[in-house]
Amino acid sequence: MEADSMPSSSTRNMQLGILALVGGVLPAFGLFQIRDEKARLLLATSALVSVCGFLVTRWLVPLVGAKTASRGICGKDLNKRGTPMGERPIPEAGGLAVGCVFLLCIICFELLHYYDIGSLVRWLGSGFQEGGVRLEQTSDAWLVDYNAAMATICFMLFLGFADDVLDIRWRVKLVLPFFAALPLLAAYSGGTGIAVPKPLQTWLGLPFYLELGLLYKLFMVMLVIFCTNSINILAGVNGLEAGQTFIVACATLGHNLLSVAGFAATAPAVRDGHLFSAYLMMPLAATTMGLLVHNWYPSRVFVGDTFTYFAGMTLAVAGILGHFSETMLLFLLPQVFNFVYSLPQLFKIVPCPRHRLPVFDPKTGLLRPKDQPDWNLVNLMLQLFGNCNENTLCIRILALQVLSCVAGFGIRWLLTGIYK
Ligand code: UD1
Ligand code: MG
Repeated sequence: MEADSMPSSSTRNMQLGILALVGGVLPAFGLFQIRDEKARLLLATSALVSVCGFLVTRWLVPLVGAKTASRGICGKDLNKRGTPMGERPIPEAGGLAVGCVFLLCIICFELLHYYDIGSLVRWLGSGFQEGGVRLEQTSDAWLVDYNAAMATICFMLFLGFADDVLDIRWRVKLVLPFFAALPLLAAYSGGTGIAVPKPLQTWLGLPFYLELGLLYKLFMVMLVIFCTNSINILAGVNGLEAGQTFIVACATLGHNLLSVAGFAATAPAVRDGHLFSAYLMMPLAATTMGLLVHNWYPSRVFVGDTFTYFAGMTLAVAGILGHFSETMLLFLLPQVFNFVYSLPQLFKIVPCPRHRLPVFDPKTGLLRPKDQPDWNLVNLMLQLFGNCNENTLCIRILALQVLSCVAGFGIRWLLTGIYK
């Protein structure tokens, strides 16, 4: 592929700018709708911390990339095979920088939630004179959940990095998230029941609230395994892993902020769950954008399994502890489809190569499905909408992701009152 077929840096920046705008519009609207002054101050401060998280990640990713490359943790850009660009080793595990900055951000949020932010602002404003900083009345359960979430995400980040370094076998990879979820499962103190959909209450005579006990924990394990792997297997195209994460994180954040603002349920426990999730989604979206600056087509850094596992786990934890996992699954419809569609290959009923990627034609710069196309969404998009270059393929799949999030909001809106 010739250098002039690469997008110019202004086209690249414009594409990233449009993505940031598309993702940012709903969360920004949601934030301005929040009337509760304390929640607004907390969230606005968190947004500020997240912006710093974006800047630090953007700066840190190339530095970490240089280090991982010097240790041989690199990969070839498979959709550029047969061109000089396909021969360059690209640093893997860019997610390491994202994960570390993300964890620092959420530790900041924990402190913000723990101290009375109004008194903190007054104290800073008075030059450390007036009053001092008061402690917030934070419930112990909140702190336990928050720390368990942090431990689980941190464990997943570590296992993802171990995978990038050790190249773990596929079947072992599949169950890694179960181990990472153990801190969360052990500490989980929330309800273990579900609100039964209204039609099922009528047809099956079930109660409004069905206690599931251990079955609920099994559901948590399945959700965690699904979310982490589903991001990891919708991959292999420059910008796709981080792009889908950014869009889903923004949609979830928008949903959280609108719920805190009172657009949906406003019961205090529900509101707290959404606030909790917003604390995770804000830095996830911001740090992922910091990574995308380097991972967008043509990638200078690969995200690695460090990122895909970390991102999937963070989404799963937000859905579980925020108590809106059904909505999360609606936002993840392309991933659900891709996961189900991939099952025959994942279970080796149909042959499964190490990389389920299209074929690249160096003469035209276009991607096309293999003669026996792999069973995944990346190939299906080429089969449905025709051959295209890698940049266009990524944009098409991300557009589908945006559509699915919009549909998710639509379905939620339609079912409110009927479903629950
Ligand atoms: C999963 C997918 C595999 C896909 C791979 C790409 C399944 C079962 N597995 O495997 O089909 O090929 O992700 O990430 O669906 N790469 C690129 N361009 C990119 C991103 C990655 O060429 O934009 C290549 C690089 O060579 C990189 C490698 O993919 O080194 C990373 O693969 P890895 O994440 O280890 O693959 P899996 O997660 O096992
Ligand atoms: Mg991977």
